[in-house]
Amino acid sequence: MNKILVINGPNLNMLGERETEIYGKKTLNQIKEDCEVFSQKINYEIEFFQSNSESEIIECLQGMENKYVGLIINAAALTHTSISIHDSLKIVGCKKIEIHISNPYSRENFRNKSFVSPVVDGIISGLGHSVYITAIFAIKQILEQANE
Ligand code: DQA
Repeated sequence: MNKILVINGPNLNMLGERETEIYGKKTLNQIKEDCEVFSQKINYEIEFFQSNSESEIIECLQGMENKYVGLIINAAALTHTSISIHDSLKIVGCKKIEIHISNPYSRENFRNKSFVSPVVDGIISGLGHSVYITAIFAIKQILEQANE
């Protein structure tokens, strides 16, 4: 079982239309397809989840149980506000990577605070859509290193 869950927060369903100068022109579905192609090549399976609702994201995190070896989370704006997601992430036992398409630290001050960062293994941001692929690769690497 080499399954990775990718959680996407509010407004990421609008990728491709939303602030394309910041978030690029690909839709979330296109990003998902790119991730599927890449994960197949390295023998991983990927599952995507998107919600605009904080409670649905919390329920998704609670439902992870032992089904995944890794979690990639772009909590979007909830990154900067959600103590509930912070608490839920603490319960998740697998490797966890926080991602952002943009670099929140180069933007407005309110994006400088992340409630996600203290409870994940690593953070990848500011590299455009490639943060998704980079995070999948990072999970593979850290799992392999752990088994060496
Ligand atoms: C984001 C950055 C957040 O600050 C913002 O609220 C988003 C997207 C990113 O991927 O760059 O919705 O997480």
